[in-house]
Amino acid sequence: MSTSELPLAGRVAYVTGAARGQGRSHCVRLARAGADVIAIDACAPVAEHNGYAAATPEDLAETVALVESEGRKILARHVDVRDADGQRQVVADGVEQFGRLDIVVANAGVLNWGRLWEIPAQQWQDIIDINLTGLFHTVQAAVPPIIEAGNGGSIITISSAAGIKAVPGSAHYCASKFGVVGLTNSLAVELGEFGIRVNSIHPYGTDTPMGNDLSMYKLLQDHPTYIHSFSPGALPTDSLIAPNDISDIVVWLASDASSLVTAAQIPADKGYLKI
Ligand SMILES: NC(=O)c1ccc[n+]([C@@H]2O[C@H](COP(=O)([O-])OP(=O)(O)OC[C@H]3O[C@@H](n4cnc5c(N)ncnc54)[C@H](O)[C@@H]3O)[C@@H](O)[C@H]2O)c1
Repeated sequence: MSTSELPLAGRVAYVTGAARGQGRSHCVRLARAGADVIAIDACAPVAEHNGYAAATPEDLAETVALVESEGRKILARHVDVRDADGQRQVVADGVEQFGRLDIVVANAGVLNWGRLWEIPAQQWQDIIDINLTGLFHTVQAAVPPIIEAGNGGSIITISSAAGIKAVPGSAHYCASKFGVVGLTNSLAVELGEFGIRVNSIHPYGTDTPMGNDLSMYKLLQDHPTYIHSFSPGALPTDSLIAPNDISDIVVWLASDASSLVTAAQIPADKGYLKI
């Protein structure tokens, strides 16, 4: 396939939470499909109650190298999704450099554990501020230039299986990820007249630092009955999902192959949500 025949040739994508895990995989796969990339990550500890290590500047540098090795351009910056001005600035700079904006992958997120009536208010606030209000800032930064470009577009929000089926031990996270669904579907209706599609993806346990968070096991030890809410899927589930398999869905939603799909919740769960 020549470069101009690639499904996302000439398009530009904005990806949040791009330093590692699913975000890095999405950057690489969007680049391989022909898109240039604007990428942000906090690259620092973001939520005091997380039980897993934060991403680093070296992680984001690795994403940059991987995108460039695909032959595409990338503008990467250390920006926290809670920083509305920072998101607006990097999107504006990216549009100036690359000429347009077509695709958003709102992927940055955090997860931590605790029963709702026992967690500190700050733990609740950090999750809502990052997973939900951070997405609001992403939308405010990215939507005007996508409309302005006049080419339609695709906004992909990363919710969770826990944004469709609530699980115990992370009600604050579930609330944020259910919130992502409401935002996604309202926005899809508002942006339909501009030919811009908005859909959410709902991964189940995925092989990233978040997905391997061992602090979840402490919660399950303390409350063994909670395990029933974390059943296997319909397909064989001997391992966590590979980020690359989520990226298959991201690239499809970003491309014209999904032109009929908007306001949809796409599970990436091996059938877990139906069990
Ligand atoms: N891993 C799973 O099992 C799983 C399952 C369902 C949904 N998800 C969702 O997938 C998305 C990606 O998670 P992942 O599994 O790749 O986890 P991860 O922790 O490996 O990566 C998340 C990235 O987002 C960045 N980030 C977090 N808070 C940020 C902030 N405030 N500003 C900017 N960047 C920030 C982190 O630095 C990190 O690089 C998240 O929204 C998560 O909730 C993950």
